[in-house]
Amino acid sequence: MKALILSGGKGTRLRPITYTGAKQLVPVANKPVLWYGIEAIVRAGITDLGLIISPETGEEVKTKTGDGSQFGAKITYILQEHPLGLAHAVQVAQPFLGNDPFLMYLGDNLIEEDLGKFVDQFTQQNLDALVLLRQVPDPRAFGVAKLDPAGNLLGVVEKPEIPPSNLALVGIFFFTAVVHEAIAKINPSQRGELEITDAIQTLINQQYTVQARELQGWWLDTGGKDDLLEANRIILDSYLTTHIEGQLDDQSRIMGRVQIGKGTTLIHCTVRGPAIIGQNCHLENCFVGPHSSIGNNVTLIDTDIDHSMILEGAQITNIHQRIIDSVIGQRAQLTITPRRPKALRFLIGDDCRVELTP
Ligand code: TTP
Repeated sequence: MKALILSGGKGTRLRPITYTGAKQLVPVANKPVLWYGIEAIVRAGITDLGLIISPETGEEVKTKTGDGSQFGAKITYILQEHPLGLAHAVQVAQPFLGNDPFLMYLGDNLIEEDLGKFVDQFTQQNLDALVLLRQVPDPRAFGVAKLDPAGNLLGVVEKPEIPPSNLALVGIFFFTAVVHEAIAKINPSQRGELEITDAIQTLINQQYTVQARELQGWWLDTGGKDDLLEANRIILDSYLTTHIEGQLDDQSRIMGRVQIGKGTTLIHCTVRGPAIIGQNCHLENCFVGPHSSIGNNVTLIDTDIDHSMILEGAQITNIHQRIIDSVIGQRAQLTITPRRPKALRFLIGDDCRVELTP
């Protein structure tokens, strides 16, 4: 069995972070979100992976992720020239997939449950397709499943105004090669994309055995800022273990589960975990609160951080206030200076969001 991981797309919801990089490489607890997916797939016993990449961010994904050997897998990169939909990505990957059954995985998704049991169910029960579902409070932004009272999958609809259930399609699917024929039959949707939901509906209409399984654990799609912070919170809560390699002076205090990378110094700081601080950072007179991830080479002086992600190389100095629920991009600079006149001075890129409370 092969796996097809989608790591292309536009990433509009995560702008401006996605202007300079792939959203699948945005770090969650200081590790690219894509890598959690690759590791989960390898743990499920699948090691022949195809990775869909875009012309804009593909090189970065390739350079960072490599040939797969660091994950115990073999990765084949597949260029999708334009983000024309999830089913389009499968079409582009057909030479790689051949006639093999495959797991399709959206590269910005994270789930708590092991994939192994779904691989077993899909193969042992000779299904043509298996889709994973998760209950969500408002399913209108997702592909939504229609089930009969016995739980059989009757249909799937993309972003319905009146959802037939509260079960959203998680970005994880299993298919046999019959899906390629179904994709060949569908047309682009109103938004101009070849929808995987239309391909699944075609399989259902043609009486193929298409089943669904509902996830009980958490599911996170890290496509937007709040989802990203939530993913960061859950990963830190669930998996972080204490590991201190950096240097702390005797006025610094660590509480709870905290990781501090090599070459990082903390002077007069308090860190309350779960929190992770990368390598070669400099922190002085700071409080780092729970559910914070600080990337490599970050400088933080006279600033408090809580439930936030500070990406590589950012510098935040003299803020003397608490920054919460924030994502600060790579190399961003944020400071308060004594310069006159007393005023706010910004150089803010396109699509940034700044919220100041007086
Ligand atoms: P989406 O999050 O649905 O789309 P997007 O990445 O374009 O983001 P946004 O909605 O913020 O503009 O895509 C789900 C995953 O599939 C994501 O990892 C990107 C990937 N993808 C492709 O690889 N090719 C595609 O054609 C599309 C639409 C998505």
